[in-house]
Amino acid sequence: MSHLRAWIVAAASTAVTAALITPTVPADAAPTASPGVVGAQTAGDSLFPHQGNGGYDVSHYDLDIAWTTPNVITATATITATTTQQPLEQFSLDLEGLSVDAVTVDGAASAHARVDSGDTFKLVVTPASPVSGEFTTTVTYSGTPVSHTDPDGSDEGWVATAAQEGAVALNEPVGAMTWFPNNNTPQDKATFTTRLTVPYAAGLGALNRVAVSNGVLVGSPTVSGSTRTYTWNQPNPQASYLAMVGIGRYTASESDVALTSGTTHEWSFADPSATGSGRFATARGRLSSILKGIEKHYGPYPGSSTGLVLDVSSLGYALETQDRPYFENSIDGATLIHELAHQWFGDAVSPADWSDVWLNEGPATFIETQVGADLGGGTSTHDTYYGDWKSSSASFWATPAAGFTDASDLFGSQVYARGAIALEALRTALGNAVFTDVMRTWLETYGGGSATTAQFIDVAEQVSGYDLAAFFQTWIYGTTKPTAWPTAYQPGTLNPTPTPSMDSLVRVGRRVTVVTSAWDPGATLTYRWFLDGKAVPNAYRSSYVATAFSLGKSLTVAVTGRRTGYPSVTRTSSPRTVLRGFQVPMADPTVRGNPRVGATLRAYPGSHSNTTLRQQWYVDDRAVARATTTKFTLRPQDRSRVVRFAARWTRPGYFPVVKYSSRLRVR
Ligand code: TRP
Ligand code: ZN
Repeated sequence: MSHLRAWIVAAASTAVTAALITPTVPADAAPTASPGVVGAQTAGDSLFPHQGNGGYDVSHYDLDIAWTTPNVITATATITATTTQQPLEQFSLDLEGLSVDAVTVDGAASAHARVDSGDTFKLVVTPASPVSGEFTTTVTYSGTPVSHTDPDGSDEGWVATAAQEGAVALNEPVGAMTWFPNNNTPQDKATFTTRLTVPYAAGLGALNRVAVSNGVLVGSPTVSGSTRTYTWNQPNPQASYLAMVGIGRYTASESDVALTSGTTHEWSFADPSATGSGRFATARGRLSSILKGIEKHYGPYPGSSTGLVLDVSSLGYALETQDRPYFENSIDGATLIHELAHQWFGDAVSPADWSDVWLNEGPATFIETQVGADLGGGTSTHDTYYGDWKSSSASFWATPAAGFTDASDLFGSQVYARGAIALEALRTALGNAVFTDVMRTWLETYGGGSATTAQFIDVAEQVSGYDLAAFFQTWIYGTTKPTAWPTAYQPGTLNPTPTPSMDSLVRVGRRVTVVTSAWDPGATLTYRWFLDGKAVPNAYRSSYVATAFSLGKSLTVAVTGRRTGYPSVTRTSSPRTVLRGFQVPMADPTVRGNPRVGATLRAYPGSHSNTTLRQQWYVDDRAVARATTTKFTLRPQDRSRVVRFAARWTRPGYFPVVKYSSRLRVR
């Protein structure tokens, strides 16, 4: 028993062994391996630290929501997600209000609890057994949804429209949790199927309620008894805050909308009692020209469909709900362009953190002016935003456009106007062609996902070749009014920019350092090492150590110099072939024993790591068959001859080393 215990202790470091022996170990000695971890109740957002959850990533929401008057929903959310790290023994979803009737995980009933304290609204799920990899959670819930008041005082979430007419769900930034359990962070985007069931009576005809959401209407609405069901499918990744529902006595319209990239289908809905419903057809009629107008600058429309929703509410804003933006009471021309521009900026690429929201509102505001001028001859972006900078007060600049820390600044003028001014300043500095390339590269790189301001700056630097740290500090992060409008960066050159070289021959195992001493002292240098023209992963330092794998290959190093106000310059060294390395110095082996027939000699070759030792005894300089260990017993035929021992060290990529003992005359 005690022997067994000692063995268990010794084996405990290998989990597989521990698992194998578990059944034979008495209960008191059983290893208490953790069955899973508890998912974090935050996604780490800087402004909304209680929103979002950790440990999993949602791939699809299937929402089945039946609405009845006065404003009650009965719903099932089926959420497909995948664990991101360890198995989860507990995880949470954001859900405010409503009552949860049942939760299952992978079909098994699960324990669940609610957190409703301060800003934290969670549905905490404890599955019957920990989940790992993909898992499916169903939440059956019901009640009258609450709306949510934001730090800036505006309302969002599930909002009832005029008495018993219907409801709209608008979720920026956190309102999604008022109508479906979700991972409420723009970092976790997912596809959606939204099935909406509303009351129906054949006799009411066109006065029946209609239900709208994002994406594509699947088939025709189906009538069953006194209800009608609409199924909407969003095949593109969508942030929870861009999911929408509209229920009302809408007039529905559809068409095919011509784009430069093809056609997309339009489903639009308007409450005829909205004051602006008369001009609704005008707005619909502009969809094609505006979408094409945005495509001209920023590339293909990223949506799965298009459309407009016009309802009567008093929220104070329109919203870029994915594919199908929402408008309150009326649709003005600038706002229409703004919300459609968001389909690229905000919806295709979403902010990774809410303090990055200028990446949505800056471009949407800028494009409102840009495409407005293109289509309607309004004021140019230069005149608008140069003018805004010039006439701005110091206090306007006190709040940075990105990285601000007060959630009530989320939709402040620093986000919209500073964001747009910064983009026009960038366009001035880089020129229109490079600026457009920056914006398109941003969409191509991060479309379907979310990204940060730092990643935007990185794209701008990569595409333009300029060091833009000082630029973004001034226009995005700074808290004082920039003293001068930028001038177009002059394509001067960094001087000098010699071709880099290497300080020595390149040998396996030996550090080679790039020689850049003569470069422009004002430049920041970065390095990239290549073997046979292929970039070596993670090799971005000023020196490099070749491994055996690179033997015989051709090594080059590219040096990129960046300096504010200058385009970057990249120069590549001439190639050097990677040569065999030299192994560490090794001593001659020694031999001990009496060199007499019948006696056994013993050799001491020494020991070295990372190298393979082969041993050989020689008699009169001829290798003795099978005498390849440290011991050699002298045979009668060896008498009067000369014996010696050789150690041969080999290592891939290095020259072999052979060392001989001194010669012994056999007696
Ligand atoms: N993102 C919306 C837009 O610019 C505006 C918005 C959403 C908003 N919620 C808000 C503005 C709350 C002010 C307050 O299209
Ligand atoms: Zn906007």
